[in-house]
Amino acid sequence: MSKDQIDEWYTFGLHLAKESGKMMLDAFHKEKTINTKQTFADLVTETDKAIEKFIFDNIRQKYKDHVCIGEESEERPPWNNSPTWIVDPIDGTTNFIHQFPNCAVSIGVSYDKKIVIGIIYNPMQNLLYTAKKGQGAFCNQKKIFSSKVTDIGKALIFTEVGSLRKENIIDKKLENYARLARASHGIRSMGSAALNLCAIASGQGDGGFEFGIHIWDIAAGVLIVTEAGGVIMDPKGGDLDLLSRKFLAAGTKELADTISSKITPIQFESD
Ligand code: IPD
Ligand code: CA
Repeated sequence: MSKDQIDEWYTFGLHLAKESGKMMLDAFHKEKTINTKQTFADLVTETDKAIEKFIFDNIRQKYKDHVCIGEESEERPPWNNSPTWIVDPIDGTTNFIHQFPNCAVSIGVSYDKKIVIGIIYNPMQNLLYTAKKGQGAFCNQKKIFSSKVTDIGKALIFTEVGSLRKENIIDKKLENYARLARASHGIRSMGSAALNLCAIASGQGDGGFEFGIHIWDIAAGVLIVTEAGGVIMDPKGGDLDLLSRKFLAAGTKELADTISSKITPIQFESD
């Protein structure tokens, strides 16, 4: 894939992210139409759907052979080697509904099943995180770097309970949470996997993990972390399969390995 081609997709992706940000900002303080999905805590608004439709209508018009995978689409094609746009129109929908301004549009582009572009935009706080493969990671055009912390005793770690309300899953998540809380400076759960990855990429935290996420929550963020110098892996070590419903991220490999040794995997059905 040529650099020019990636630059062209990136410019288009940036335009789509900024327009999506305007839609999000416009709806943020207004009353929202809310529907539930799998559980009473798994939420979607009209704005989530409108943003995803806007993004995919534009992509399909411009690039007829590109594939679109999105959280709110009724049909999701399998992830393959074609240029693929992997989109979460609002990551942190619960925050969006509660007017807690930690939510963002997340746009990842893959080619040959490798993420080559990551764009995450939180318009409420005017934070635009971007990365192109091999070209570094940026927040509002300023280069960002992950932290150098290797000692879990000095680490701030992100993880989430998520929206599934199954007792045994929540118990397992809280056991991991407690084990990490005892070993670290602290745990933060800010309600957006995409923005947790951006925080790790920019050194505002040192590591993070989650079980139960989907490819659209992390596609853009994993590239932003690795381009910032951080590590992405399967929570039990080895390469991360983006469809496996989990991730572990850290500023350093040493910290990633220590977090890995302290968490018990939780199995979710693959995407
Ligand atoms: C959710 C957020 C949340 C995470 C969930 C995700 P959504 O995405 O990233 O932090 O815990 O696993 O599903 O539903 O707001 O797009
Ligand atoms: Ca979402």
